Amino acid sequence: MTTQPIIRVELPAAAPSAAAPVAGVALVTIHRPEVLNALDRSTMRSLAETLETLDADPACRAIVITGAGERAFAAGADIRAMVDMSREDHLADDPLAAWDRVAAIGTPTIAAVRGYCLGGGFELALACHMVVAADDAVLGLPEVGLGIMPGAGGTQRLTRIVGPARATELILTGRRMDAREADRLGLVSRLVPAADLLDAALALAAAVAAMPTQAVRAALGAIAAASRLPLDQGVALERRLFADLFDTPDQAEGMRAFLERREPRWSDR
Ligand code: CAA
Repeated sequence: MTTQPIIRVELPAAAPSAAAPVAGVALVTIHRPEVLNALDRSTMRSLAETLETLDADPACRAIVITGAGERAFAAGADIRAMVDMSREDHLADDPLAAWDRVAAIGTPTIAAVRGYCLGGGFELALACHMVVAADDAVLGLPEVGLGIMPGAGGTQRLTRIVGPARATELILTGRRMDAREADRLGLVSRLVPAADLLDAALALAAAVAAMPTQAVRAALGAIAAASRLPLDQGVALERRLFADLFDTPDQAEGMRAFLERREPRWSDR
């Protein structure tokens, strides 16, 4: 696994005292705390490359993404890097495509969010499969107040989760919401005290990583399809993926283990 200066990858231990890493889990940290982990082009490119490398590694079965320091997950795309950009700069070399690369990762991704999670930072969390939020998290899409608009999936992903009425109010006013409101709106998988954030995100990642990989990936694919396919097509896709899993060794093993009252031994462990 690669370690880069701004994007750092660790195989985390279950607890500071534990010697062994949490099986199958990688922890990826965005490390620009001096600018509240603002996401410039090289940071996002490096993050996307790191996640793609992990996604291709069969030993990695869940990824936690977090921001360095206690103040922010990420306070958005880097405004200093964008201030002099033109329309042509965006069209020629789409800097926002990196968010799509994150959303396309097939390994389960969990954003561990504390502090500011704004603009492109919030859109990064929305591109992950799950969000574990600390009770001090502050989330919002302030782009319109900068004379632009959310450009890394925010108008689409937020609207699908919270509906157009809430999304419009949040985007047009740039209002920041606290973690409790984000939780109420269905944006958060788990809400935890700030001191427990990383442990909770790693525990969730470990629980997912303990599951059989093909079943996890198939289920993720079907869940992702729910926001882009009409219901009948989504249900048809689900049924096909369900049938496909009966061609995998883990189906036989999982069901036999249940009937024999023992723990399953998944084919890739
Ligand atoms: N880009 C660049 N630098 C940023 C940044 C960002 N998004 N957010 C914070 N920083 C920098 C600040 O410039 C400051 O650096 P200096 O010390 O060198 O001046 C440092 O981080 C600390 O920030 P503040 O001094 O502002 O800290 P604060 O506690 O007073 O305020 C904050 C915190 C409310 C998060 C404030 O920093 C803020 O509003 N940041 C910008 C949030 C924002 O507008 N994000 C959207 C960006 S556009 C976008 O994301 C487009 C898209 O759709 C992809």
